Amino acid sequence: MVLVERSGNANNNRVHFGDLRVIRRRAKVGLLHLLNRARQNAHNVRPTGVESIHLFLFDIEAGDAEAFIAEQERQWQTHIAHSDDSDARVARLHLLLEFWQAAHGHFSHAVDCKTCCCDGAPHLIQRAIVSLVVGTAALTRTMQSGSVILAKYLVTGAAGFIGRSIAAALLARGETVRGIDSFITGKRSNLIGLEAMEFIEGDLADPAACAQACAGVEIVFHEAALASVPRSVADPVGTNVNCVDATLNVLVAARAAGVRRVIYAGSSSAYGDAPTLPKREDMLPNPISPYAAAKLAGEHYMRVFARVYGLETVVLRYFNVFGPYQDPTSHYSGVLAIFCRRMLAGEQTTIYGDGGQSRDFTYIDNVVYANLLAAAAPAEKVSGQMMNLATATRITLNETFEILRELTGYSGKPEYAPARAGDIRDSLADIDLARELLGYEPQVDFREGLRRTVEWYRSCGGA
Ligand code: UD1
Repeated sequence: MVLVERSGNANNNRVHFGDLRVIRRRAKVGLLHLLNRARQNAHNVRPTGVESIHLFLFDIEAGDAEAFIAEQERQWQTHIAHSDDSDARVARLHLLLEFWQAAHGHFSHAVDCKTCCCDGAPHLIQRAIVSLVVGTAALTRTMQSGSVILAKYLVTGAAGFIGRSIAAALLARGETVRGIDSFITGKRSNLIGLEAMEFIEGDLADPAACAQACAGVEIVFHEAALASVPRSVADPVGTNVNCVDATLNVLVAARAAGVRRVIYAGSSSAYGDAPTLPKREDMLPNPISPYAAAKLAGEHYMRVFARVYGLETVVLRYFNVFGPYQDPTSHYSGVLAIFCRRMLAGEQTTIYGDGGQSRDFTYIDNVVYANLLAAAAPAEKVSGQMMNLATATRITLNETFEILRELTGYSGKPEYAPARAGDIRDSLADIDLARELLGYEPQVDFREGLRRTVEWYRSCGGA
């Protein structure tokens, strides 16, 4: 038997995590009544063979009930349709009944404060929807391998390089994870190894997809974006849709679903081309490409949602992330992914500009590590904050090329071409704020990261 609970907003006030635990304790006592009733109902509709009862508590605002139920019902039906439970229809009907009873308030006696748990004080279960699924072990298996057991974490851009890396780390910790990706730049092959993740193919430009993705989730890692400066120069509208509109949609859906915290992949491109190094968070942003402007707009939305709606938001401004799973095949790919692939294949690389431009290249493990810290950090420390995420070291492209020659065995020289529009010259982060707010320290330095990255591209043929 499985009991899964999710809670969210109450009376438009945010329920803080501490409070939530108290509510959950109380809720559990009250839910025992429901569970007993559920058992009886289960045997009424299905006298034999019932092996599992799943009781789900969704704490939502009353006004959202109908839409919420419709969405949940759609998800359950999908699951049951894919289940090998031969008597799944019963489960579905039973579930529908319970949903509608909940929607029309007929559960009040079952969760009546006086008869259950909490000294007569009003409590959140009265605004909850309780749904019940009865089934056999086969149904249970389908549910547990799929989307019915609601994920605690949502990763957007889960088929992308950074998203899949965060999802993998969460799964390795035994967390329940949902991912969403539209495959505009994400790759299906990046989902290999993430089978335990519930996956939604959907576009964050679509508010309905965002609502589906956020349902029941506690923490969102918003990694989805069209992450490329030159791509944004070629297609500023596409970048705006996939970076700005998508981010606003995620925030709106997160708030409506009672998500507690959204962690956002910001970009160092926000600093633009100001010569001052290192870049500190208190410097005025100065985006010089559509991509930088779009990512910066997302940062502002994060801050505003924390301030206006009390949603916990954290912005991590990434500096040139690299590592395994970064797509090396696109013209818009990150420079290290392109260089690794080409040099391993014995092909010449192109350096735009004189190669003297420098970057604070950040190995992916550092990014994953900081995201996990950001998810766990106390709200009073991090909510509404923006901080650099990097290594506080920089290296030029020419130097990087030399290190890669050693690591890959490539013996040729690079070709030099004119500098790219929208490119900045130098980039180096001050990471003291992340140290202070998250306790972050880089875990893997540039050389070691590059070594691991080359090994990875070597092992997968640079695909
Ligand atoms: C920028 C952002 C970064 C963002 C990334 C998304 C800055 C400081 N950083 O990185 O936050 O995540 O976009 O794409 O703005 N280059 C070559 N040869 C190549 C490819 C690239 O020389 O084949 C050069 C580029 O011209 C650039 C440097 O390498 O000078 C790095 O390029 P890239 O990896 O695309 O990242 P940024 O544009 O620095």
